[in-house]
Amino acid sequence: MISDKVRDILNEQINKEFYSAYLYLSMSAYFSEIGLYGFSNWAKIQSKEEIDHGMILFEYVLGRNSQVHLGQISTPSFDLNSPLDVFEQIYMHERSITEAIDCVAHMTEGECDLATRNFIDWYLNEQIEEEAEVSRIIAKLKAFGAEKSALYLIDRELSAREYSPIDY
Ligand code: FEO
Repeated sequence: MISDKVRDILNEQINKEFYSAYLYLSMSAYFSEIGLYGFSNWAKIQSKEEIDHGMILFEYVLGRNSQVHLGQISTPSFDLNSPLDVFEQIYMHERSITEAIDCVAHMTEGECDLATRNFIDWYLNEQIEEEAEVSRIIAKLKAFGAEKSALYLIDRELSAREYSPIDY
């Protein structure tokens, strides 16, 4: 069993992960609409991973004999100025998710819930990877993205991303 405070913050995190999935899916549509199918692939796979992140939390809450409350998912909103602009918004979004995960970890420590604190380590590490990957893409876009031929190559590189399902 987990405390009501931990249950509530985990439910909030489930919502943030599913919102992230929705956000990336809408970005995937945007990239597809402007012919950047590799970027679209990258964002679509990210959307699937975000669903996994939400479902891992979902199963954890149920597995601790607690309650899942699925709240409303907000409409995703982002500016569609350029691939670089979108990726800078992705970076800011992931920073906000990292802060949210930090708050979950902090809450579990306050509640002396070491099992959930241990469980949340996976998310802390995942956020480090996600921020790093997005930073690398931003660096490439800043260095070469103004050239259409370079943007084409970055798009081709992102088309190689594959989805690895996670068991939960
Ligand atoms: Fe589930 Fe992008 O963090």
